[in-house]
Amino acid sequence: MKIKDKLKHLEELERKALLGGGDVRIKTQHDKGRLTARERIDALLDKGTFRETDKFVTHRCTDFNMAKNTILGDGVVTGFGKIHGRAVCIFSEDFTVFGGSLSKAYAEKICKLQDLALKMGCPIIGLKDSGGARIQEGVDSLAGYTDVFLRNVLSSGVIPQISAIMGPCAGGAVYSPAMTDFVIMVQGSHMFLTGPDVVKAATHEEVTFEELGGAMVHNEKSGVAHFAAESELECLGLIRRLLQFIPNNNLEDSPVTDANDDMNRMDLELDTIVPDSPNKPYDMHEIIKGVIDDGEFLEVHKYNAQNLIVGFARFAGKAVGIVANQPSVLAGVLDIDSAQKGARFVRFCDCFNIPIVTFVDVPGFLPGTAQEWGGVIKNGAKLLYAFCEATVPRVTVITRKAYGGAYCVMSSKHTRADINFAWPSAEIAVMGPDGAVKILYKKRIKEAKDPKAEEKQLVDEYTEKFANPFVTASKGYIDAVIRPSETRPRIIEALDMIQNKRDTNPPRKHGNIPL
Ligand code: HXC
Repeated sequence: MKIKDKLKHLEELERKALLGGGDVRIKTQHDKGRLTARERIDALLDKGTFRETDKFVTHRCTDFNMAKNTILGDGVVTGFGKIHGRAVCIFSEDFTVFGGSLSKAYAEKICKLQDLALKMGCPIIGLKDSGGARIQEGVDSLAGYTDVFLRNVLSSGVIPQISAIMGPCAGGAVYSPAMTDFVIMVQGSHMFLTGPDVVKAATHEEVTFEELGGAMVHNEKSGVAHFAAESELECLGLIRRLLQFIPNNNLEDSPVTDANDDMNRMDLELDTIVPDSPNKPYDMHEIIKGVIDDGEFLEVHKYNAQNLIVGFARFAGKAVGIVANQPSVLAGVLDIDSAQKGARFVRFCDCFNIPIVTFVDVPGFLPGTAQEWGGVIKNGAKLLYAFCEATVPRVTVITRKAYGGAYCVMSSKHTRADINFAWPSAEIAVMGPDGAVKILYKKRIKEAKDPKAEEKQLVDEYTEKFANPFVTASKGYIDAVIRPSETRPRIIEALDMIQNKRDTNPPRKHGNIPL
């Protein structure tokens, strides 16, 4: 064949590869309101930067009449490109090809990309739209999945891994995203291990795809997803935004932006944000937004365990992770779900050199059999463990309550936090005044002439003694009592001071976090 003809042949193959499962299936995909695998990549990456890899790979299955059914590229589009000018690897599952189901060749394409991303130290993004293991390929497909899972694990903590669920994500397709750092679900997409038919056969329970594994189910209930997006374009925009807060790999720092917000900005409203009554709630978001750059907060796991807030923000242009109790939900208590949510976020930040700023207003752990039987001890310990092992720069601000074990857990000085502040409204003690007095003075209150008056007086005395930050400050467990209005400049100074922190854990294979 002459060179000219070879070029023509290449063009022909390229045109064929672009078609995926063909025009009819592309139309069906569009009719469902969904983009194709390639359209998604184009919408996500910086314009014109995508370079496809393995465009001509085909599956190798000959059973079930599959030999006559090969499609160039098989069911996944892989390659690399740029987001905000930074290199990323990307794979996008193509539902138009055998329902995006995974063959051995398809898995090999993803594995090759995972190896490249790990070696190059760049984030990897998976756009998921798949019916799971390709049934026709049998164990080859299971082998392929496991090869992908292995690489997810080996990449964990080295490069950021982000998954977007754009359509169905069934069976084996769910475990790879579950092991990545962030899962974003588009409304109308689903994640499930076993579909409604199997559920019905096994449990006689009738559920829809949406009830079983819809975007809000996994955002609110299971916590599998970190973000929900109304549309595919919003989801892709969210990935771009998320990447602005996180570094390319564990040896680099997050990108720094020009800070427009005054570093010395005081927020006088913060001086009155904590109500006089210790049982009155307030919204911790207001404190967070009042102190961070331009009030721009990217909340992670927004719909799950809302008694704890986690997310990304900036101080003086530099990215931080925020962890904060939320007094307006369940009075800000820690429980199983919030501890898990917090632990995962703290560990992400620690993997990727992102300093952590913690805001504390926590009355303790949630009591009750549901919590005890559900393992609040081991789950609460996850958050404690995560903070204790974190060696990134850490600043903590106690705004009001820091009671009992929750004081210890919430990035206290004793967990190796670097700079710990308290507002004058802070109350730091083993437990709240009411509970403490009931235990300490049970007999005295019972025997008093006026038990109610006696109890009130004892509560007042206890409050006077412990419900303030000064006892803790006198022991050096907090570094300074600061005015709420000066919180932003004080955090920025502290982060500046500790930015070159180098701390390590003892050498070991790995710790044994209570999973
Ligand atoms: C092969 C598949 C497939 C699969 C879908 N298709 N899933 N082909 N293997 N796993 C094919 C369909 O046969 C169909 O082909 C085309 O893709 C589109 O599928 P539809 O069913 O028409 O689409 P839709 O109605 O939108 O339903 C999508 C779906 C459904 C919900 C994903 O296809 C489905 O339930 N698929 C099976 C999901 C599942 O149980 N997967 C688990 C596999 S086991 P034609 O040619 O007819 O259009 C597994 C275990 C791995 O993954 C464990 C590893 C740890």
